[in-house]
Amino acid sequence: MRFTDALLALLASIPNALAYPSDSAWLNEHVKRYDGFPDNLADRLGTYQPPGPNDSRGPCPMFNTLANHGLINRNGKNLNSSDIKKAVPRGFGIAEDAIETALHNFEVVCEYVNGFSCSDSANDGTFILTNLTLLGEPHAFEHDHSYSRQDYRQNWFYGGITDNIYFNSTIFQDSLNAVGYKPSNPPKKATANYQQFNEIRLQRESTQNQADFPGWFQQNIPTTLFETGFIFGATFDRDSNGTMVGSIPMVRLDWWNYWFSEESFPTNLGWVPASTEVFNQNFILSVSSAVLHASITSLPKSLPAGATATTFPGPGNLPEGDPSPTFPLFQSAPYVAPTSPGAINTKRAALADPQASFPTLPASVSSVIASEVTAKPSLIAAAVQLAGPAPPKFNLYQQSIDTVTLKNQIAAAQSYEKLVIAKITSLASA
Ligand code: HEM
Repeated sequence: MRFTDALLALLASIPNALAYPSDSAWLNEHVKRYDGFPDNLADRLGTYQPPGPNDSRGPCPMFNTLANHGLINRNGKNLNSSDIKKAVPRGFGIAEDAIETALHNFEVVCEYVNGFSCSDSANDGTFILTNLTLLGEPHAFEHDHSYSRQDYRQNWFYGGITDNIYFNSTIFQDSLNAVGYKPSNPPKKATANYQQFNEIRLQRESTQNQADFPGWFQQNIPTTLFETGFIFGATFDRDSNGTMVGSIPMVRLDWWNYWFSEESFPTNLGWVPASTEVFNQNFILSVSSAVLHASITSLPKSLPAGATATTFPGPGNLPEGDPSPTFPLFQSAPYVAPTSPGAINTKRAALADPQASFPTLPASVSSVIASEVTAKPSLIAAAVQLAGPAPPKFNLYQQSIDTVTLKNQIAAAQSYEKLVIAKITSLASA
């Protein structure tokens, strides 16, 4: 099952633009913050250590943060679902009910990628997730137009392998630009509301719709909205006791920036975890709905069709039948924040941005071909048919792989991709 679509059912079940919070009982509950975890934040949140080159990290900032703090295995591998269920409330204050759907979908993707069950037969009801990188399987749980990651086929012309997994500061700045926020030293305190997040979401769709290889871009609004609910829950503006400032959650942009770019908790900017009584599934769905229905004043150009839709098709399957060949996931050392998180106030602004250039489609893809492919996605299917069967799928999700084999596999996939592109070119210009 395509788990991104499981969220649709949840979203559809909630009323439009549900305001949150709605009553004073909620506010009383909000005061309860520590939820049985150590009051001392340093004990509760563990110690930050950047990932090493053999550690596994993925496209989810939440998982990467938990691993960097040792609240799940630091190497990001062999993750038991029951350990995840304990670590997420501990680190972020999120209630267990809010992660059930995502965890289930994670298991589905794990099995899809590995080709065998990820369930742990020795421990009924739990399962083992091989590693965090497999979360980056393109168009499975992973999706296009993320707030802080490139799309998988954004840089296809550099060999078909695009880093759709690790934090990318250029992409994230595209998100922040939509609300006029620029990281500074010291970080400037600012907030964003439902409407502004709808604008960020649309801006990201517009940018990637233009940057991706024609025919590749897929819109995935429900999952993006669910993740937006996570962002609100993790970083809504709060005082030092964790009580929400105001009555409607507003994202602290300085906290959001710190969390994503450092993959660490923004405690040195006054952040504390939310209460699990607050940050539950109801919270996330109400935020998702409110962001989706927030009216916006102007739309970015080049939006894909359906970008302003408020209803979505029903659940589907994982893309086994996807006509686009699947290529390997990006593999390199995991992303490491350019500064030690604790030192952000003094050092960060002095550092050059390591990812300053924003990729665009090369001139070698003629606009004629690009528009043909966009107009006729079936061209890709026809080209794949002409090119013949793709080489065996990479298995980069293994925890170790022989380098020579890997290089050969990459070379085979790249030459296959060139062949497909040549077929597209000849079909489009025929
Ligand atoms: C426990 C089950 C979870 C799973 C399996 C999961 C998995 C994922 C995956 C696959 C992505 C990548 C989507 C993309 O292509 O951008 C993602 C993104 C994201 N996740 Fe998680 N996640 C989980 C829970 C959470 C929680 C609890 C939080 C917050 C506390 C969170 C915050 C986010 C955010 C904010 C993004 C969007 C990143 C971006 O757009 O750049 N996730 N997650």
